[in-house]
Amino acid sequence: MRDAVRIDETDTGLHVLLNGDRRLTVGRKQLPESFLRWQSQARRQMFELLEARGARAAHAHPAHLPVLATLGEGLFPINLACKGMGPLPKREHLAGLTERFESLRAEADERAWPETLPQRLAAARSFYDDSGNFDSWSLGGLEIFEGQTARNLEQHPLAALLYFGEPPTFPSYQLAGVVRRVEAEDPAYRFLVAARELFAQDAFHLRQQRYPFGFVFHVVDWQDKTPFSRGSGKPR
Ligand SMILES: Cc1cc2nc3c(=O)[nH]c(=O)nc-3n(C[C@H](O)[C@H](O)[C@H](O)COP(=O)(O)O)c2cc1C
Repeated sequence: MRDAVRIDETDTGLHVLLNGDRRLTVGRKQLPESFLRWQSQARRQMFELLEARGARAAHAHPAHLPVLATLGEGLFPINLACKGMGPLPKREHLAGLTERFESLRAEADERAWPETLPQRLAAARSFYDDSGNFDSWSLGGLEIFEGQTARNLEQHPLAALLYFGEPPTFPSYQLAGVVRRVEAEDPAYRFLVAARELFAQDAFHLRQQRYPFGFVFHVVDWQDKTPFSRGSGKPR
């Protein structure tokens, strides 16, 4: 994505320059309310569990872990990887939340880490408990491993995400989007690192020394793929 590809945001869409010569203009699409509400609800449930039973109680968190499909080359060009991808704040909340998360992270370093869980949870909940705080046009995640996904996106920044959730409703959404790489000086990257680092030392994360860059996934299209019961009676 660095040299070969350029993505410019406009009010109505995205201009994408692919491999330095192919130009593409795509419209953007807002995420559906039902998806944004699910993202908020799933986190709220997780935070309530952590409040009641501590950080060790966390296990699966599928609403945060979609599969990201990217396109490479060869006989099997589709690459799949599970990536932590979640809501970004609306522009007006971005700097304030980032600073709050960063200062709580610094404070947690000075004290016994579990002691500060209530304050860290309160800060996270001030954002995630209300889907009205979310930017409804994009999602964000952090690249850690710099593997095939990252290589593919450098050449071809058009990708798809498949989210799928838990019973009894099994929410599921497929999103199509343009992926922009964000690095140190970008406010979205700083937020993504601050949000992850707020819980980085807790039992439910693999600790990382470094997040080489982040992704902003600009939504171009979506499909609700939530399954439902077809008919009734005896299966045939
Ligand atoms: C539960 C889970 C969460 C993961 N979260 C991330 C993540 O947030 N960022 C990341 O770069 N890799 C994450 N990974 C690792 C990727 O799925 C994948 O192993 C890695 O990117 C290498 O695949 P690739 O060569 O297609 O990039 C996660 C894996 C699992 C199983």
